[in-house]
Amino acid sequence: LKINLVAKLFVQSIPTSINLILNNGASACSTDARQYPVFRGRPSGNESQHRLDFQLMTKIHDTLFIKLTWRSGQADRETCAMKGKHRDECHNFIKVLVPRNDDLVFICGTNGFNPMCRYYRLDNLEFDGEEISGLARCPFDAKQTNVALFADGKLYSATVADFLASDAVIYRSMGDGSALRTIKYDSKWLKEPHFLHAVDYGDFVYFFYREIAAEHNNLGKAVYSRVARICKNDMGGSQRVLEKHWTSFVKARLNCSVPGESFFYFDVLQAITDIININGVPSVVGVFTTQLNSIPGSAVCSFSMADIEKAFHGRFKEQKTADSVWTPFPEEKLPKPRPGCCAGHGSAESYKTSIEFPDETLQFIKSHPLMDASVPSIGDEPWFTKTRVRYRLTALTVDNTAGPQKNYTVVFIGSEAGIVLKVLAKTSPLSLNDSILLEEIDVFNQAKYVLIQ
Ligand SMILES: *[C@@H]1O[C@H](CO)[C@@H](O)[C@H](O)[C@H]1NC(C)=O
Ligand SMILES: *[C@@H]1O[C@H](CO)[C@@H](O)[C@H](O)[C@H]1NC(C)=O
Ligand SMILES: *[C@@H]1O[C@H](CO)[C@@H](O)[C@H](O)[C@H]1NC(C)=O
Repeated sequence: LKINLVAKLFVQSIPTSINLILNNGASACSTDARQYPVFRGRPSGNESQHRLDFQLMTKIHDTLFIKLTWRSGQADRETCAMKGKHRDECHNFIKVLVPRNDDLVFICGTNGFNPMCRYYRLDNLEFDGEEISGLARCPFDAKQTNVALFADGKLYSATVADFLASDAVIYRSMGDGSALRTIKYDSKWLKEPHFLHAVDYGDFVYFFYREIAAEHNNLGKAVYSRVARICKNDMGGSQRVLEKHWTSFVKARLNCSVPGESFFYFDVLQAITDIININGVPSVVGVFTTQLNSIPGSAVCSFSMADIEKAFHGRFKEQKTADSVWTPFPEEKLPKPRPGCCAGHGSAESYKTSIEFPDETLQFIKSHPLMDASVPSIGDEPWFTKTRVRYRLTALTVDNTAGPQKNYTVVFIGSEAGIVLKVLAKTSPLSLNDSILLEEIDVFNQAKYVLIQ
């Protein structure tokens, strides 16, 4: 039996049995799945086996799509090795797997440091059309984090666009109009970002990531967590300023901190949910850790979209000279229309497209993408913290309709150590009860782990 490059799994059947839909439409039981390396963990002592987490999965309706083998081209593998990369790094690691519409899924792989993308049809899982370049859509190196999504038929991607991973970019391509990007090598816009998530919401696409904080005044580097926002109708600037660059890129810090005497920041975003309703309020929930060079500590914080918007309506941050302190920019001196607005909306209502924005507005946003205020977490405190343990919490998923009345919120938080914490969240600051740790599940105990080989 020849297996397709994309496999569909029915979500209901996981994890007890894995049903693969094969070329001939028949489904195979998990014995067939065993032949494919992607379903195996890392067998001990064999470092050349790659782990499951390099491959991507996406859920579309009730079906889980997993990218199986799509090998790097022979020539690409050779070039990759010639450029000094280890043979193991020259595989085609799948880094993008996103639905384009009801018919197509878009997939990109690193292809031996020469990223390439393809469309696959969702009905028959066949490769559709030609291979296209993955540049600025997919990283060269599998170790780099990236995100991608389609909104209004255009691909938004956040990744690094070069071999050395120095050109970090938030990029929009495909669909009509020219491609747009963030300014190249401008550390005010992006500074060594680690992209984690993107969502399409209202008139905007939001990006969640962490980066080196340019505004951090003290000695040493600090990582801060960010939410950035881009107008979906952004067409780029004029020929004079910001041509083929975003005119609406604004970003704010996410403030996940413990109030009170032992005031403390969890500044390193590790994972964040889609927008979900928490007590009827559209919100995101993220897991954060302390700085990577400090004592491990983790926290779960939630942020309402309304508070995120409030930060973007507030003042901008400014650094007057290269070594001065960052200060809020006076509201009354802001150019009009307000920098960061979408054409046709709010203070930019009379502008049909961003190309017509006056130079002052474009110049301002070019040099001031950062907002002054940070986004407060709901209730000004984390839902949950975990300190005094050696591991960090790095993944989460939220069930916002738990319990018989479907009115409780339960968070499952994954750790580096293979332990999953199940927490009943205190989602309302008014609630008398704190969050409760319901269960600590050891899902990856080496001793218990049985190789499925
Ligand atoms: C973060 O939130 C805390 C609690 O509300 C607040 O005291 C602190 O000033 C905030 N920090 C920033 C940088 O906004
Ligand atoms: C959920 O609903 C039940 C029954 O209406 C109620 O007793 C309980 O307090 C509710 N819990 C929350 C967290 O709203
Ligand atoms: C809150 O805590 C009290 C005391 O531990 C417990 O009796 C009560 O059931 C809790 N309420 C909820 C909604 O969990």
